[in-house]
Amino acid sequence: MAETLIERASETENRAAVVILLGPPGAGKGTQARRLEEAFGLVQLSTGDLLRAAVSQGTDAGKRAKAVMDAGGLVSDDIVLAILEDRLAQPDVIKGVILDGFPRTEAQADALDAMLAARGQKVNAAVSLDVDDAAMVERISGRYTCGGCGEGYHDSFKQPAKAGVCDNCGGTEMKRRADDNAETVGERLRAYHAQTAPLIAFYKGRGCLSSVDAMAAIDEVETDLQQIIRDAIGAT
Ligand code: AP5
Repeated sequence: MAETLIERASETENRAAVVILLGPPGAGKGTQARRLEEAFGLVQLSTGDLLRAAVSQGTDAGKRAKAVMDAGGLVSDDIVLAILEDRLAQPDVIKGVILDGFPRTEAQADALDAMLAARGQKVNAAVSLDVDDAAMVERISGRYTCGGCGEGYHDSFKQPAKAGVCDNCGGTEMKRRADDNAETVGERLRAYHAQTAPLIAFYKGRGCLSSVDAMAAIDEVETDLQQIIRDAIGAT
């Protein structure tokens, strides 16, 4: 059903779907983006993941980004935009993307509009994942991922069936992010409210904003998001 809607949008308007997930650190952007990828055949584009890859590869951009990320601030727009533009030029994004952690500033949102307009595309839906800040520190400080396949886990909310063994790929190397500590999370939340939360009004003004209660269970949040995306894609 969802695939059919995406294909219909692509065939009739020659536009790949563009969905933005907005929300503070720990809101569940990555968790939901991975689920929506499967449900809709879209590609998750996480600027956080792209930046972490640049850091681990030791590229110039990665070297410039690392200290800022470790301190919980926002990486400069020029670095983020260059990384995103490269990724958007790759052929696998043809059916559309779920943007996870991008845009994070109004300058990034304007640049995204320009990039999409040049391709005959636009933002179909921007969804705000609404959460209580106080709960985010617990969510973030307890999370870890499988080093093999990236499957996400949490000390309290989602443990693998067998301790230390990934349910998805059987991998045994679990990783925690360097910026997932209480002090840095506080800074990341401050950066979100100062620089990213204003984008909620920005997309409301564009008439494409929706919101979900992201304090609900993960499956419920996914159901709400799927409905919003179906409506947005079917209506375009
Ligand atoms: P980034 O990697 O984007 O991190 P973030 O925005 O801080 O978000 P997180 O990945 O921490 O959280 P999430 O919302 O994805 O939550 P998750 O699904 O993991 O950015 C990192 C850094 O890179 C930034 O600080 C910045 O320096 C830089 N950066 C990135 N993009 C940039 C940009 N565009 N411009 C400038 N700088 C940029 O969930 C968290 C945990 O909660 C998990 O364990 C999960 O299982 C659990 N969980 C999720 N949903 C629920 C639920 N409903 N109930 C219970 N538990 C849940």
